[in-house]
Amino acid sequence: MNYINMTYDEACHHAPIEEPARQYYFIEYCKALLDKLKEVAEKETFTFHLATFGCQMNSRDSEKLQGILEAIGFEETDSEEADFVLYNTCTVRENANQRVYGRLGHLNSLKQKNPHMMISLCGCMMQEEEVVAKIRKSYRFVDIIFGTHNIFKLAELMAERLQKKKMVVDIWEGTDRIVEDLPTDRKYPFKSGVNIMFGCNNFCSYCIVPYVRGRERSRSSKDIVDEVKKLSKDGVVEIMLLGQNVNSYGKNLEEPVSFAELLTEIDQIEELKRIRFMTSHPKDLSDELIEAMKNSKKVCRHIHLPLQSGSSNILKAMNRSYTKEQYLVLVDKIRAAMPDISLTTDIIVGFPGETEEDFLETLDVVKKVRFDSAFTFVYSKRTGTPAAKMECQISDEAVKNRFDRLLKEVKLISSEMCRRDEHTIQEVLVEDINDPARELLTGRMGNNVTVHFKGDSSLIGKTVNVYLDESKGFYYMGTLRP
Ligand code: SAH
Ligand code: SF4
Ligand code: F3S
Repeated sequence: MNYINMTYDEACHHAPIEEPARQYYFIEYCKALLDKLKEVAEKETFTFHLATFGCQMNSRDSEKLQGILEAIGFEETDSEEADFVLYNTCTVRENANQRVYGRLGHLNSLKQKNPHMMISLCGCMMQEEEVVAKIRKSYRFVDIIFGTHNIFKLAELMAERLQKKKMVVDIWEGTDRIVEDLPTDRKYPFKSGVNIMFGCNNFCSYCIVPYVRGRERSRSSKDIVDEVKKLSKDGVVEIMLLGQNVNSYGKNLEEPVSFAELLTEIDQIEELKRIRFMTSHPKDLSDELIEAMKNSKKVCRHIHLPLQSGSSNILKAMNRSYTKEQYLVLVDKIRAAMPDISLTTDIIVGFPGETEEDFLETLDVVKKVRFDSAFTFVYSKRTGTPAAKMECQISDEAVKNRFDRLLKEVKLISSEMCRRDEHTIQEVLVEDINDPARELLTGRMGNNVTVHFKGDSSLIGKTVNVYLDESKGFYYMGTLRP
């Protein structure tokens, strides 16, 4: 096929309708366009820089975007002085958006110096109408804007931009489609995220995710198991099953499958050593799941169980569908089944209407549960969510005071909790050479805590036994054992 002389409209006409074949067609088309551009620019290579903000969902999406860019023929660079700069954005908190606008100005100055440079924005922030309107108006130099539902279309959008030479905007409000089997480039050869579901139906009143990621959709268990098998054949020993609320996996499938059933099936894949998952909503964490975890040697002894608040009143206003007492009972149940479990959490401080008493309830849960670690967030008002319209937004001063008190408690407890494995031998998956102490390796235990120890880089990707000499608060220094 002679792609070079084809206009974008002709390419659209020739491209297969079905996916992923259509995208493979556009990858080839872009490749030809890029080769031509290289000749014009007299450059051997065209580079890309991909910056990822936000959660594991975005990280996984970025691996897919990277796979497509490499298939087209771009080469990755750490520098923003690249020919294609792509920001995969997060909008869960207001300041995340401000950061993106801040960086765009800098990108524009780079673009002035490189006539071939393209700037593209995608991800959750682009699913907000006001954001796209603002970029169209005030950031005209942006080349391609797309959202969370159509990341698989990057090659098609790039082809349009290259040929039509004007800003391309493609935002879908939602979708039932799940396009599989496009190229991906994993960040680590030995571990990988695996999407098991997309979107969220929970509508916690502070949270923008259901609006930007759409309704909950589960992938078929066959597709998931096939993907995990393929990954493990490719050298992956640890997988992280990803969903905003993995506990409600499979409910909307034609033949419903529970998350526990899915875990049990994946557990049988021989080459696989570790299974993790993220995130569990406390309201949906079933006894069946606790049992499945308990019976598995591969599922890591770690649950991320976002608390958000310890006050039943605030939890109700947050639409979390559990009370303080129910949360504590759940924790007891999990710990009774798996005493060595590591529990981590997310907590929001300063939700509208939060009183000092409400805050003390949160501190009380923190002291009772003794989390291994906790991510603490200052409440951020997200336009479009119900909480943004609630009265009694809390003053910055009160929030700061509570945040500092919470952080102090969380840090103290987590450094005490981390110490519990000191002077034991633990199985560690070696992930990287330590930076900056390059004579050390960094690995991760099943409970997600990191360990630094002396060793050879050939061990990266392998599981080894490490004696934990000393806890340093939230990580260990250890010694490799035969
Ligand atoms: N699906 C996951 C997490 C999604 S967002 C869950 O249900 O737990 C990750 C975390 O960001 C949330 O757990 C919450 O603690 C925090 N978060 C979400 N919206 C926020 C907001 N408006 N302000 C502050 N923190 C927020
Ligand atoms: Fe947001 Fe709640 Fe859904 Fe998590 S469960 S993504 S906090 S709405
Ligand atoms: Fe952010 Fe989107 Fe994740 S808003 S937290 S990147 S789902």
